[in-house]
Amino acid sequence: MLYFMTMNGITKAQREVTFLRAELNRHNHLYYVLDNPEISDAEYDLLMARLKELENNFPELITSDSPTRRVGAAPLKEFGSITHRYPLLSLGNAFNKNELMGWYKRLLKLLGTKEISFICEHKLDGLAVALTYENGLFTKGATRGDGFKGEDITLNLKTIRSIPLTLPASAPGHFEVRGEVFLPLAGFNKLNKERAEQDQLLFANPRNAAAGSLRQLDPRVTATRPLDIFFYQLGYADGKDLPNSHNQRLDYLKELGFKTNPNNRLVSSIDEASAYYDEWAAKRNNLPYEADGVVVKVDSIPIQQKLGDVGREPRWAIAFKFPAVQGTTRLNSIEISVGRTGTLNPYAVLKPIKIGGVTIKHAALHNEDDIRRKDIREGDTVIIQRAGDVIPQIVGSVVSKRDGNEKEFSLADKLYDKDKERPACPVCGSEIHRPLGEVMHYCDNASCPAQVQQRIELFTSREAMDIRGVGKKLSATLSRKGLITDIASLYWLKDKRSALVELDKIGEKSADNILEAIESSKNIPLARLVYGLGIRHVGYETAELLVKHFDSLAKMAAATLEELTAIEYIGPKIADSIVSFFSQDDNNFIITALQKAGLKVSEETTRKELPLTGQEFVITGRLENTSREEAYRRIKELGGTPKDNITKKTSYLVAGTEPGSKLAKALKLGINKLNEKEFQTLLEEVGN
Ligand code: IVH
Repeated sequence: MLYFMTMNGITKAQREVTFLRAELNRHNHLYYVLDNPEISDAEYDLLMARLKELENNFPELITSDSPTRRVGAAPLKEFGSITHRYPLLSLGNAFNKNELMGWYKRLLKLLGTKEISFICEHKLDGLAVALTYENGLFTKGATRGDGFKGEDITLNLKTIRSIPLTLPASAPGHFEVRGEVFLPLAGFNKLNKERAEQDQLLFANPRNAAAGSLRQLDPRVTATRPLDIFFYQLGYADGKDLPNSHNQRLDYLKELGFKTNPNNRLVSSIDEASAYYDEWAAKRNNLPYEADGVVVKVDSIPIQQKLGDVGREPRWAIAFKFPAVQGTTRLNSIEISVGRTGTLNPYAVLKPIKIGGVTIKHAALHNEDDIRRKDIREGDTVIIQRAGDVIPQIVGSVVSKRDGNEKEFSLADKLYDKDKERPACPVCGSEIHRPLGEVMHYCDNASCPAQVQQRIELFTSREAMDIRGVGKKLSATLSRKGLITDIASLYWLKDKRSALVELDKIGEKSADNILEAIESSKNIPLARLVYGLGIRHVGYETAELLVKHFDSLAKMAAATLEELTAIEYIGPKIADSIVSFFSQDDNNFIITALQKAGLKVSEETTRKELPLTGQEFVITGRLENTSREEAYRRIKELGGTPKDNITKKTSYLVAGTEPGSKLAKALKLGINKLNEKEFQTLLEEVGN
C-alpha cells in the first residue's frame, strides 16, 4: 500500500516534470534559437521554479539533460580529452578578390566544370566546437584542440541556452555537429564593464572573452557569460541518409533545433559570393557579433568530397577575410592613472590615428609585466587594434622600425620622485607598492583624491545609490577640494552648503537639488548600497546575493570565509575580498558613518525570518488529511526545508500510517517524531 502511494506521487510528479521540461525546452528554443518568444520572462521563470521545486522534492527524477542543469555543475580539476572521430580542419584565407578568384579558378580546373553553387556564411571570431548527440541527448562537447584531439567541455557547453540538450525523436541516433561559440558584442561590452568596475583585467576582444569563458574549469562561471553559438556543419550521422547539399544539411540542423546563422546565403556563382562579401564588409559594424570575414563553401557535398583536403585545409572552402580593424602609429609615451582601489594603471599616449572611422589617442596597457612581455617601448611604432566598443589595445611593437631612441618601460622609474627619493603616486605623492604575487602596483593612500573621486563616482552611479547631479566631474572637484573625503561624507555635505554653492557653476538651485538627491538616496535597497561600497570583485549581482543571504550590513561584515564560500556563486577570491574589506578600520568607520547618517543598512523585506527557518522535515508513510506535496508546500511557506532522508540535521520526522524504515532511523538518532495530527497542530500554531 505504502509502496503504491509513493509510486503514485512520483508518477504524478514524473508526469508534470516531463511536461515542464518539454515546455521549458520549447520556450528556450523559441527564445534563444528563433528569437521569437511566446511567453514573458516571468512566466518562463515560473515554469522553471516549479520544475526546480519538483526536482527538489523528488531528486530521483533529476536527469542530466533537465533544463535546470544548465546553471552549471561543480568545478572540474582539469578537462578530460576527446578524440575527434574526424579531425576539425582549419580554413585557407583570401585577403583580396584576386586571391578569391585564384581559389575559384583552381576549383574549376580540378572539377572541369563551369559553374559552382556556393554557400556564404559569416566567419565568426569565436571558438570551434564539436558536439555529439546520442539517442537524442547531448552527450559530449569538445574544443577543436589540435584538430585531432580537443578538451572535454561538455559541462560548460550545457550552460549555453541555444544548445539543445534534447532532440526530437526523428534525430539520428549518433551524430556530431560543429559550430562556433561566440560572445555577442553586447555581452562582451557588459562583461568588460563589470570587470573594469571590479578592477579585473579586461578581455582584449570577444574571441578571448569567449575562449576564457568556455575554457573555465568552473561551469558556474561559464553559466554567467552570455555565450551563443551558430552551427555551421554536420560532422557525421550514423545510419542516416543526409541531404547532398551543405545548405540543406544546415536546414536539417535547424529543423532539429540547432541555431544556424540567418545571414547564411546560397548563391549560384562566385560573383554573387563576392557581392555577399562586399555587402557584409560594409555592414559588419552593425552586426551584434564580431565577424572577421566570410566563409565561402562549395554547396554540393559530393563535390566537396571530390575536392578533398590539402594538408589541414579543405579545398572546398575558403575564408575571405575583412580588412583588419588595426593600424600602426607612434607610442608617444606611457602614462599612469590611479584606479578606484589604488591600482596604478599604465596607458599609452598615441600619435592620434583613425581606425574604422574612430580617432584613437589612448590605448590600455594592462600592467608592467604585460608591457615587458610584449616588449613595448616608449617611442615605438605600435600596432593598435579595436574590438567592439572597448578601449583600443596595443597588439605589439614593430621592432624593425626602431631607431635606438626607444625607452624601455619601468613603472618605478616613471614614478620616481626626486625630492622624495622614491617612486610616488602620480596624484598624491604617497608611497607605492606591489603586493607579492600581484601584477599591479598600488598607491597606499586610501584617501588619495584619485581613489576617493572614483569611489564617489561608483557610489553615486545609477546602478548604486543613483544620486543624480553628482557625476564624474563633481566627484573630482569635491574630492580635490577636500569637501568630501569618503562616500559617507557625502551625507554631511549639507553642512557645507555655502561651499558647494560657490563651486564652479553650481549655484543655489543645483546645490539644493544635489543635496536633496543625496538625502533621498538614504532609503535605497541595500544591494545597491553594498554594490556602491566598491568592494573588489563584488558586482551588482554578487551584492544582491549577499543581501539575500545576510539581510544586513552588520551580518555581512561579520561573515567568515567559510560562510561566504558556502553561498552559491561566491568563490574564495570574492569571499576573501569581502572579508578583507570589512576587516579594514577605514571601511568600518565609513559604514558606521553611513548608519549614523540614517542610511538603511538592513533589508527586512527581502527575507523575513519565518517560524520554521532552519528546520528540516522528513515525512514517512501516508498522510490521511493532506497530500505529501501539500505538506511540503506548507513547510516551505513557513520557512522550513523538506528533505528525503534522515540525517543528524533533521528537526522533525513526520510519521503517517505505515511508516517506512525512516522511523526506526529517526528514533535511533533521537529525532523529534510527530504524528499527522501533531504535525498539523505545529503548522497551525507557527502559522498564526
Ligand atoms: S567551416 C572545414 N564555417 O574558422 C571547415 N568555420 O579558420 C572549417 N569559423 O576553426 C570550418 N565561422 O572556428 C566554418 N561559418 C564558418 C565559420 C568557421 C568561423 C572558424 C572555425 C574554424 C576556423 C577556421
